[in-house]
Amino acid sequence: MKAFSFFPRTKMPWNCFCCVSQDQEEPAETSRVHKNRDYPWDIYSLKELLHATNSFHHDNKIGEGGFGSVYWGRTSKGVEIAVKRLKTMSAKAEMEFAVEVEILGRVRHRNLLGLRGFYAGGEERLIVYDYMPNHSLITHLHGQLAADCLLDWPRRMSIAIGSAEGLSYLHHEVNPHIIHRDIKASNVLLDTEFEAKVADFGFAKLIPDGVTHLTTRVKGTLGYLAPEYAMWGKVSESCDVYSFGILLLEIISGKKPIEKLPGGVKRDIVQWATPYVQKGLFNQIADSRLKGKFDREQVKSTVLIAMKCTDNSPDNRPTMIEVVDWLKGGIGRRKKEITNHVDETEDEEEVYDETDTDHENYGMELSDARENITRARSQRR
Ligand SMILES: Nc1ncnc2c1ncn2[C@@H]1O[C@H](COP(=O)(O)OP(=O)(O)OP(=O)(O)O)[C@@H](O)[C@H]1O
Ligand SMILES: [Mg+2]
Repeated sequence: MKAFSFFPRTKMPWNCFCCVSQDQEEPAETSRVHKNRDYPWDIYSLKELLHATNSFHHDNKIGEGGFGSVYWGRTSKGVEIAVKRLKTMSAKAEMEFAVEVEILGRVRHRNLLGLRGFYAGGEERLIVYDYMPNHSLITHLHGQLAADCLLDWPRRMSIAIGSAEGLSYLHHEVNPHIIHRDIKASNVLLDTEFEAKVADFGFAKLIPDGVTHLTTRVKGTLGYLAPEYAMWGKVSESCDVYSFGILLLEIISGKKPIEKLPGGVKRDIVQWATPYVQKGLFNQIADSRLKGKFDREQVKSTVLIAMKCTDNSPDNRPTMIEVVDWLKGGIGRRKKEITNHVDETEDEEEVYDETDTDHENYGMELSDARENITRARSQRR
């Protein structure tokens, strides 16, 4: 198979990457890691990566996703790495590999998972990342580490802000802008300090200047998909904002994006949270594993941000710049901007109280939007 024949045509110098990969077809014997002068990534040899992962031993396997397995490894220099080994070299996988390596290699931000390098030769496509010792958000919220309850409220807030900053960087600072298209808990990894690193740009689409949205085949993960994307394949930055809103509710509540009710009926996290929001019972949305140890005002404003992000209409959703600002901003300002029905005389520093009724207008606006969402969702099913 000719390597990387599925590269999209963009302003990026894809051809240079092609040349690099083709050079890699034969040199599996060398264990040298090449530092390419023109690129911010290393080119690993197969031997080096086989050695690092104990030949992709089962015991080294961290997990498996839609496109391959991820293995823990240690390089000859003693650096811990995670190696994603693509399953098959279908045209789709080839495309995923090319897009992911090209994008990740160039994008650098403290809240995005760093790409160390890759190997491409024969049928093997391997992507080498920094290893994240605290695994992913999904492990802590619903997986093996859920019972350990390592995510207290301040950590959850800082993970939410970090992921929002990573996404905001992709949407607004990288040129051309990048839409992630698969924001979810397993794609938010945590470093030693529990700092969030957004991973997996395999689904990313590069957006040329002047294009507001692209119509494309639906990818991504059920439960996180914006209605207009799921139904009509319309992609824009606000699809990521929607997925981020779902992620935010998941971080606050510890609930999965979709839950199966007795009788097999499925309920999504927005449908679950909406009645609490309408009644102003924000504390009920917070994860019971937090045992009440959280900032009530922050829970309330973060839930409201999540509800804004998951608005049925993409035009009503905030940008990621606004989301970052709201998540980091002063409580009073945040509340005003989010609820969009400001009472100018309101005391900005008022202490949150469950009997507080300032959510009422928001609730009414919200219920209209929710009706639309429910309709859209039932059409989608
Ligand atoms: N650099 C890394 N450090 C530590 N764990 C990682 C790293 N990269 C991936 N993982 C973990 O390995 C597992 C598999 O990841 P992978 O990205 O292949 O699948 P996924 O995120 O579950 O689904 P998808 O294929 O849709 O992205 C996930 O639990 C992920 O959190
Ligand atoms: Mg992933």
